[in-house]
Amino acid sequence: MTMTEAKRRIRIFDTTLRDGEQAPGASMKPEQKIVVARQLAKLGVDTIEPGFPISSPGEFKAIQQISRELQETEICGFARCVKEDIDAAVEATRDAARRRLHLFVSSSQIHMDFQLRKTRDQVKQLAREMVAYARQFVDEIEFSPMDASRSSEEFLYELVEAVIEEGATIINIPDTTGYALPEEFGPLFSRLRQNVRGADRVIFSAHCHNDLGMAVANSLAAIRHGATQVEVCINGVGERAGNCALEELVMAIHTRSESLGVETGIRLDQLYETSRIVSRMMHFPIAYNKPIFGRNAFQHESGIHQDGLLKNRSTYEIMDPEAMGIPREMIVLGKHSGRHALRHRVEEFGIRLRDDQLEDLYHRFKAKADELKIVTDDVLLQLVGEATASSVEPYSLVDLQVVSGTQRKRMASVTIRTSDGEERTFTGTGEGPLEAVIHCIRQAIPDAGEFEDLELHSLSTGEDAFGEATVTVLHGGKRYKGTAIDRDIILASARAYVAACNSACMSRNRQRPVSAAAGQ
Ligand code: KIV
Ligand code: ZN
Repeated sequence: MTMTEAKRRIRIFDTTLRDGEQAPGASMKPEQKIVVARQLAKLGVDTIEPGFPISSPGEFKAIQQISRELQETEICGFARCVKEDIDAAVEATRDAARRRLHLFVSSSQIHMDFQLRKTRDQVKQLAREMVAYARQFVDEIEFSPMDASRSSEEFLYELVEAVIEEGATIINIPDTTGYALPEEFGPLFSRLRQNVRGADRVIFSAHCHNDLGMAVANSLAAIRHGATQVEVCINGVGERAGNCALEELVMAIHTRSESLGVETGIRLDQLYETSRIVSRMMHFPIAYNKPIFGRNAFQHESGIHQDGLLKNRSTYEIMDPEAMGIPREMIVLGKHSGRHALRHRVEEFGIRLRDDQLEDLYHRFKAKADELKIVTDDVLLQLVGEATASSVEPYSLVDLQVVSGTQRKRMASVTIRTSDGEERTFTGTGEGPLEAVIHCIRQAIPDAGEFEDLELHSLSTGEDAFGEATVTVLHGGKRYKGTAIDRDIILASARAYVAACNSACMSRNRQRPVSAAAGQ
């Protein structure tokens, strides 16, 4: 592909709120779906499938409200080949400025024999009738032969041809069980386009599940063979191992756009925010090593990599996380990190060390890194304090006591020291021990920011395992993270919260380097 050739535009059909929500434990309240839908519109997806209208009154109302509110985005009503489903989908999406209906029926022998208990002819007839029925109400009709990748290809041609005759305008080919290989799935699109009468009048779409980890590869193969729409979910959520992840597909297209010759209309700078909202609303954590949004996706611990990155980011990174709205924290300090990375991280806090101070810090740091897997910012700042015989953190947690139990409110007392050495103790209550502790810290740190998020992970097994807590605070429209590790998870969470507040505070004061350690 040459620079002058126009790129083919791939339509992004987002089904986070329908197929994504079918993931075990991912279901959302109607008001949460509306929050996610607003963000999807902001992200620039072409079509939103907001749910399954017949499934519950709450679901119906949420789809109705999304259709009314998001007038810039096409809304898709989902239905089985059943009149009541179609009626509900027509009604729920009535007020959308642009809409389509999505009808599906199984086409594989195993589904037809055991699930539908229908013959091929009966399935074809049903699909014909229901597409014709839906077409009376809505112009754009998407049809999916479910389990297409395990269906007889001859029957697939017949079925697709039949629904195109009845007015289907988009043919979506699902790899429902995540079984296909890219070299099989891609060419299937070419053959459908060649062998089905009317194929030139419709849009072809791919819908891939990730059971064998090939959802993105299969979607790209479909694109290479003529698909112009892909169905995707944020964070790759969805049934079983999930659906093709929107962010992975979009970033593959963006990063390799010259080779692929295609582009999307997604606003990259909204990707991270969308991922966070979906993860929070679904209570669905993201694996550390997940491409694009996993915590480690842009973090580097090896000294050799850190050294290369600090000289030129492209040595080990193929994408710019900041372009996706991901806060840049590329350096993780652990036992593989070197002096160069250590100095860089410390300087990010506005602290400049003399060479002898750095050397002292480096030895303390290595000993700590052997003990803890990761040297978090709060520990690093303590070590800087020891190496420079000064206090560099605006606030440090000196003591914490909590009373937990089954009755009455939980109580906590927390002692905080400020950088000028003043110590004060605060007490608080809450429904849980952590809430009680947060109430204490808020009193101690007046500009603590909004406690937005807490992630807890066990770093090993057994009852004496270390817990890692990461707290995100929102301050002045920016997010700051603090991480801490301890065997006591309440203490780890409290330290992480104080670390996040310190990070916010030090970022504001960055223009004024911390003097005691600053190698005056
Ligand atoms: O995976 C699947 O087959 C589906 C269809 C109903 C589109 O979600
Ligand atoms: Zn699916």
